[in-house]
Amino acid sequence: MKKRRKGWIIAMDGPAGVGKSTVGNLVAKRLGYHFINTGEMYRALTWKGLEVGVDLNDQGKVLSLAQKIKWQFKPNEEGTTLKTWVDGEPVTTQIRDERVSRNSSVVAANPGVRKFMCRLQRRLGNGGGIVMEGRDITTHVFPDADFKIYLDASIDERADRRYRQLKAQGHDADRAKIKEAILTRDLNDLKRKINPLSQAVDAIVIDSTHLSMKQVAQKILRLIKRGHG
Ligand code: DC
Repeated sequence: MKKRRKGWIIAMDGPAGVGKSTVGNLVAKRLGYHFINTGEMYRALTWKGLEVGVDLNDQGKVLSLAQKIKWQFKPNEEGTTLKTWVDGEPVTTQIRDERVSRNSSVVAANPGVRKFMCRLQRRLGNGGGIVMEGRDITTHVFPDADFKIYLDASIDERADRRYRQLKAQGHDADRAKIKEAILTRDLNDLKRKINPLSQAVDAIVIDSTHLSMKQVAQKILRLIKRGHG
């Protein structure tokens, strides 16, 4: 395998709440790469659509909104993660809103939008030196990535992690509701006609149910070292 200009392309997929971002960021930091969470792009478009009052079911209007936006991806303070900016504004906080989470799957099922996002993602990752995570990165965006990882964990463990995270941030949290929301999102991602969440046949599957995020990152770093050390 030939290293690209800036390093390997490391692609990672997996269901909601499995820790892809935490792990991806840890791996990228160790390698001096950039990390991109592609879910942010779908969320950012959803947020903008809700802001300007576009009917999110109108596929043509949502696509034309995506085309009008000035998309930028700028490193966070730490310098590892590329955050999504919309029309000159960082949208990190607003895209985590519950309303955005609930509505993002309809935007993510829009074929024109997926094509548009895929083009953006390839442009960002083509030079290498990147860890990119999402639902279709190993299967569609970078099927020829140097490393393809599918991160999994049981639904109960994913719900527990999210519950603990919310509690630690001082939010009120209901474990049963969290589990239900994750199950709904899984179902939406799996049943989508275009580029649904699926395991690439040649992806390395890591079950993180009984592992810490640090242990998962170490596993991936070992894999990379073994593969190309
Ligand atoms: O990872 P996330 O939950 O923040 O993603 C937000 C939405 O975008 C969710 O509905 C899944 C979808 N998504 C997608 O369809 N493809 C990707 N590559 C990343 C996210």
